[in-house]
Amino acid sequence: MKEVAIVGAGVTKFGKRNDVTYRELMAEAIVEAIHTTNQEIKPQDIDGLFVSAAQPELLVEQAHVGNLAAQVAGIQPKIISRVEMACASGSAAMRNAWAAIQAGLAETVLLIGIEKMTQNPKAASKSLCIVPDVEYESIHGITAYSGFALAAKEHMQKYGTTREQLSSVAVKNHYNASLNEKAQFHEMGEIPMEKAINARMVSDPLNLFDCSPITDGASAVIITTKENASKFTDQPVFIRGSGQSTEPSIGVSNMSSISTWNALKRAANSAYEMAGISPKQINIAETHDCFTIAEIIEYEDLGFAEKGMGGKFIEDGESKLGGSLPVNTSGGLKAKGHPIGATGLAQITEITQQLRGQAGKRQVKDASIGLTHNLSGFATHHVVHIFSN
Ligand code: COA
Repeated sequence: MKEVAIVGAGVTKFGKRNDVTYRELMAEAIVEAIHTTNQEIKPQDIDGLFVSAAQPELLVEQAHVGNLAAQVAGIQPKIISRVEMACASGSAAMRNAWAAIQAGLAETVLLIGIEKMTQNPKAASKSLCIVPDVEYESIHGITAYSGFALAAKEHMQKYGTTREQLSSVAVKNHYNASLNEKAQFHEMGEIPMEKAINARMVSDPLNLFDCSPITDGASAVIITTKENASKFTDQPVFIRGSGQSTEPSIGVSNMSSISTWNALKRAANSAYEMAGISPKQINIAETHDCFTIAEIIEYEDLGFAEKGMGGKFIEDGESKLGGSLPVNTSGGLKAKGHPIGATGLAQITEITQQLRGQAGKRQVKDASIGLTHNLSGFATHHVVHIFSN
């Protein structure tokens, strides 16, 4: 297989972005990514484009966003594709772009992830309700909130996971966001445990501070072959492993287990196997904390903690900055924000910055191997990537 490297990666400020249009948000992310290369890259160097956008038709009433992105970037690639896998679109796009390079269809690929969710609040609510199985489940009130609430209830019942442990994830990720100027809740700063525990209920047992927010934001990543990478950076970050797996159903009622995510285990195992490493060798991870319970289950099913010990992992401070395996140093989806199509590539951007030693106040010392995990639906579909510097 060809060695493929990230040569540039950037994100826009996340949050409510009334100050820009959809295409301006895209442009902002591209400029951010180019600024992290040596700026020798020219439009004609880019021969592939993958755009991760979950629901622009509904949210901003714009379709054909792959072509729009080519116009905004000023490029005419040989392969262009828009990828939609709901919240996991960004990582699925990365896997496809990597495969396109492996297949010899492109040498240097620009990836753009974007979602503008706050411009039409009704559309944003609807967009979240049509990701689950509309015909059999959403119609009965099983939406993202209640689906993950079921997972939390079962995890609490089976393994004794506590209210405090759920809130510890929120407290940690808000602290990390206070160190990240691009995060939606950067200005909110640290939050005390009492605030996280006593927030208004959304779907029992998940309260406001157990949920990721509604966000506008974009991210961009540039990848190329190892041979080309030195033309654009002296700090390449290599893609070492890539894995993807899915439950055989879109809905929660047919999942093999609600509080153990077997598809995540399969995706992670594929990525570990390809990279030739074990979970113990990971120095830093960005995982999909759409709800606090998700991060706890991910510690377990990614192999960072024994099954049932995810709550203790956060309680013991293992995943904090300064802990044995810092998770979601960016602030995570919880506090950096979750603009659906932008999330996967924003996770990859955080790991790239960390592995380049450019994460500022939230830098993890000597980080050399990083992992990203991105999921969609009720944790029915997962994508895992492993990177090294
Ligand atoms: N965490 C912390 N604070 C939040 C928040 C969150 N997730 N979401 C909103 N807030 C804050 C806002 O900043 C605002 O604060 P302010 O009054 O100081 O300005 C306040 O709560 C009200 O915001 P509003 O947008 O009106 O809240 P809401 O009740 O309409 O929405 C949620 C709250 C949790 C329902 C919404 O953020 C949501 O739907 N999140 C889940 C998104 C999701 O499911 N994504 C896909 C995951 S798979």
